Amino acid sequence: MKMQVKGLPEKTLLRELESRLKGDFSFNSGRIVGSMCTNPHPLARKMYARFLDKNLGDSGLFPAVTALEEETLKMLGTVLSNPEASGHIVTGGTEANVLALWTARKLAKKTNCEVIVPASAHCSFDKAADLLGLKIVKARLNDRFQVDVESVKKAATPKTIALVGIAGTTALGVVDPVDELSELALEKNLYLHVDAAFGGFVLPFLKDLGYKVPDFDFAVPGVCSITVDPHKMGLAPIPAGGIVFRNESLRKVVSWDIPYLSGGETEQATLVGTRSGASAIAVWTVMKHLGREGYRKTVGKCMHLTVKLAEEIPKIRGLSVATEPTMNIVGLKSDTFDVRRIAEELRLRKWAISLFPRHIRIVIMPHVQEKHVEELLQDLSKIVDKLRG
Ligand SMILES: Cc1ncc(COP(=O)(O)O)c(C=O)c1O
Repeated sequence: MKMQVKGLPEKTLLRELESRLKGDFSFNSGRIVGSMCTNPHPLARKMYARFLDKNLGDSGLFPAVTALEEETLKMLGTVLSNPEASGHIVTGGTEANVLALWTARKLAKKTNCEVIVPASAHCSFDKAADLLGLKIVKARLNDRFQVDVESVKKAATPKTIALVGIAGTTALGVVDPVDELSELALEKNLYLHVDAAFGGFVLPFLKDLGYKVPDFDFAVPGVCSITVDPHKMGLAPIPAGGIVFRNESLRKVVSWDIPYLSGGETEQATLVGTRSGASAIAVWTVMKHLGREGYRKTVGKCMHLTVKLAEEIPKIRGLSVATEPTMNIVGLKSDTFDVRRIAEELRLRKWAISLFPRHIRIVIMPHVQEKHVEELLQDLSKIVDKLRG
């Protein structure tokens, strides 16, 4: 389409946008049950829109937002058992994982490096490795879908520079044995990164609520950095990922002095230059506004519905769950039907689910209400009846 010569008024554009964007799914419908994103908290949305002009890439111009970002990282650090933590609010889990591997590679000061990740690792590690010229080695999973530490040990070579553990796998929300990975990392002097993009805003609050939660954060001594995404269970607007380093010196491993900016010389330690101050402000706002208590409540509600869903699924003949949920993710599987057929039928009924090779991922995010879970279960029963013929 050619750009028009004369501009159009707000009213016309709004009408067109509202009509054209109607075709998208909305979180409010409760039908998005496969995404790790949700409606941002209304106050975070408000502050995000209000401070859109803030650029964290030019911290000399915006020292006050820079201070807010630092405060946000301290809050994230305390949630992750380390008040000394330092890092950045970035574009998402992908950028955070890139920054972690970039840091590991710089620290290693060698070429031809390998990074061992669980077979369950998010594809952002493949992207990061391609970008950074690293080789990704995938370690096997055990029967509970966690990384098999023996397989990690076997994969370690003199070329290995880093290990990755996941706290909330993309497919099933499983947590790897980070304490065992830490022992190995400390023994072999390797960088250990934990991808808690999803679980970072879930596990600490589940623990508060009395759920049994394995150690996955900076309480584990070998952990150097953690990815934790406010734009997933943190209820912040997109884009808001988090890279949290154990200390300030790790944060500065990948850092550049940028001389030309109008705020004067500044340091940038993220992949991008110009970046959203509004994102950091929104994360600061929602964390301050909800407090631990608010997140506990949200996570508690999601987990309650998750447990209900996981208990009800096996009551539908032919369906089962891949594993008992650790967090608000259910893996729906079947030994009777092809899960692709079930996914197809769910999509025909306007459910936005997420399909993996052997299961359908259902993520019970805060926008999903009890009635949606009930409707989903009813539809699953109907689908099974249909597939039985
Ligand atoms: C465990 C994990 N890490 C990283 C990511 C990437 O996050 P983003 O899509 O925000 O880049 C995801 C995305 O779902 C994820 O599940």
